[in-house]
Amino acid sequence: MAEEVYRPGLEGVIATETAISFLDVEREEIVVRGYNLLDLARERTYVDVVGLLIDGRLPDDQERAVLERRLLAAAEVPAQIWEILRLLPPRMHAMDRLRTAISTLGGFDPGVERVDPEQDRESGLRIVAQAATIVANLVRVREGQQPLAPDPSRSFPANFLWMITGRDGSPAEVRVFDQALIAYSEHELPNSTFAARVIASTLADVYGALTGAVASLKGPLHGGANEAVMAMLLEAGDEEGIERWIRERLARKERIMGFGHRVYMRRMDPRAQLLKETLTRLVAERGDAEGQKLLRMCERAERLMHAEKGLYPNLDYYAAPVFYVLGIPIELYTPIFFAARTAGLVAHVVEQHAHNRLFRPRVRYTGPRGLKPA
Ligand code: CMC
Repeated sequence: MAEEVYRPGLEGVIATETAISFLDVEREEIVVRGYNLLDLARERTYVDVVGLLIDGRLPDDQERAVLERRLLAAAEVPAQIWEILRLLPPRMHAMDRLRTAISTLGGFDPGVERVDPEQDRESGLRIVAQAATIVANLVRVREGQQPLAPDPSRSFPANFLWMITGRDGSPAEVRVFDQALIAYSEHELPNSTFAARVIASTLADVYGALTGAVASLKGPLHGGANEAVMAMLLEAGDEEGIERWIRERLARKERIMGFGHRVYMRRMDPRAQLLKETLTRLVAERGDAEGQKLLRMCERAERLMHAEKGLYPNLDYYAAPVFYVLGIPIELYTPIFFAARTAGLVAHVVEQHAHNRLFRPRVRYTGPRGLKPA
């Protein structure tokens, strides 16, 4: 019998082979189908990255235009989805409402029962398109307003941002939002992607796999961290406030959201660096005093956490103030993470179905034995 190895939290365990992405921590590179994710964020669009992840290669200009039109054409959401969302308790967490919507979308896809990579790609593009529309309208529908229908005359990110805020972003804002979507699009095997692959490995459909991923992403140790970071910044108020806020929590041995990462551990998440640069540029260009204060607070807390705990920020840390200066409601930060990640999640489901082996690990049993029921 093979040696029994137990690694709590599966730390360092290789759980699958993949040609989609890999975190090369030594070289500080997030490899996505051979490209550096940061190069993609600087030089390409989110729609390009959707093509790269789901179709397997970067589209050229013409192919990008076709894919963008296809996504925008598929972005309309069945009216029943809005009716169902309206029936849910308004206090229900935005990620739980999103989870319900993603699950229900499967019922409107005629191909849902056909589980193979080709159908996964087809359904997956629908999910990428429709998730954006659902996420953008979560607040509006909860407040009893009519959802904004997608406008195919805008670009994919311009339409997404417009549906969220109800106003047209400047070209610089749309570009920043697009970069944030790319930063969130794919990241190897985080908890939500692993959850999706575990579900897909039973030959369950892509909607089921992505519904599980929404549930996973809600947690504050994962996607929920970006909203917690923003709550911390607003509660702390200013630079002195954030220093005090963090010191108090560290003294109580609490975790500070937006810091630390299972894989990067004691290094900066390259995506956090990207969004920090993006935030710095955006608030300087706009002469945005509040944005500049948030940036100074973030930098102060970053120095403090490094000095006190040797910890660095992760993506969620700088994504929070970026979303805030773009005027995005805080309860949509984690749903936007999911909408951006649909591209990576779909790619993983396609790959799982193409080279499937059921996930079924074992346990180290620590309970009693030999008890008698009577
Ligand atoms: N604040 C304070 N201490 C921390 C933090 C933190 N954010 N993160 C790790 N530590 C400490 C932890 O207390 C432990 O210390 P000790 O050895 O003295 O007990 C040590 O660092 C190792 O922590 P761990 O829990 O064994 O590390 P992990 O790999 O299980 O946890 C993590 C990774 C991301 C769950 C954790 O760093 C964390 O809770 N961070 C805050 C939540 C967060 O920002 N999540 C977003 C992650 S990245 C993007 C995403 O996935 O959404």
